Amino acid sequence: MITFERVSKSYGGGVEAVRELTMEVAEGETLVLLGTSGSGKTTTMKMVNRLIEPTAGRILINGRDVMQQDPIALRRGIGYAIQHIGLFPHMTVAENIAVVPRLGGWSPQRVSERVEQMLAMVGLEPSDFIDRFPSQLSGGQRQRIGVARALAADPPIVLMDEPFGALDPITREQLQDEFLDLESEIQKTIVFVTHDVFEAVKMGDRIALLHEGQLQQLATPRELVECPANGFVDQFLGHHRFQLSLLTRTMRSVLPEVGLSGDAPGERPEAFLRVRASLIEALDLFKCSGLSSVAVYDRQEFVGHLPKPQLLRLVAQVLGETETRA
Ligand SMILES: Nc1ncnc2c1ncn2[C@@H]1O[C@H](COP(=O)(O)OP(=O)(O)OP(=O)(O)O)[C@@H](O)[C@H]1O
Ligand SMILES: [Mg+2]
Repeated sequence: MITFERVSKSYGGGVEAVRELTMEVAEGETLVLLGTSGSGKTTTMKMVNRLIEPTAGRILINGRDVMQQDPIALRRGIGYAIQHIGLFPHMTVAENIAVVPRLGGWSPQRVSERVEQMLAMVGLEPSDFIDRFPSQLSGGQRQRIGVARALAADPPIVLMDEPFGALDPITREQLQDEFLDLESEIQKTIVFVTHDVFEAVKMGDRIALLHEGQLQQLATPRELVECPANGFVDQFLGHHRFQLSLLTRTMRSVLPEVGLSGDAPGERPEAFLRVRASLIEALDLFKCSGLSSVAVYDRQEFVGHLPKPQLLRLVAQVLGETETRA
């Protein structure tokens, strides 16, 4: 667990990057730091692994003040994907990914297996990439290596600063999904920075919205979208409220309402929905497939069928709620 206790950071010249931030990141949770450029997201994140030191307040990891810990040892236990990538230019891809496992004393055999596993995870063919240098990669490929490096030593805490920022929408979505799959298997405590509210809603168990260094709201994606705490949050959500509302409703969350009954197909069909798929993805799948009912799966396990009329009822319900409030 990461605890922020009235944490502030001022730089010289009167810049207060973070002001009196108090919050907790629960163990196994993905907390998204969301906010516009300059709102203090990177500063907040870097104070966790002491790349920046707070001017006031304390940050505790499992009850221990980070300022009382050896910064090198501290950082070994915290994966970090740096904004704007930050790979070591003189090291190959394999060497970049292997940095922390090597420091942790892993055997060369285990390190090289891990490097291949991480490359496969981020969708890069190991044999094509291990010997390249960062200058021989595209921006998006570099960013994937950055993510692989952050996760390589399997640290319990991972800090990710706009890890998918430089990717095209398709690759970005693919990596987000892979990351969510991975996350559902190995629960890590993740602090994830983005300025994209859609990404925040998709990735976060909770979202901390910052503005000018101050926490505006700390809430689940659904609470944030349905009940903005103030005018700033409302403005930040902009004209995407309906879409965001649909996005916060996953198959898993609507399961109790719709029941999703039916018999399991013989094998998983080509068109199916995962339990974490949102109403938006469900609409999209119906649009693309022309099906009248789609099967929903929790990993390999069949959960039930979602008939199209049920989905449309749920969508209408979301729209109804929005209308009533306005
Ligand atoms: N070393 C520094 N010296 C002075 N001011 C700084 C320094 N680093 C950051 N700041 C200022 O602190 C504020 C917060 O910066 P920070 O990098 O945390 O923002 P951010 O939310 O990560 O923004 P972005 O989305 O653009 O990455 C900004 O106003 C920035 O100019
Ligand atoms: Mg930043």
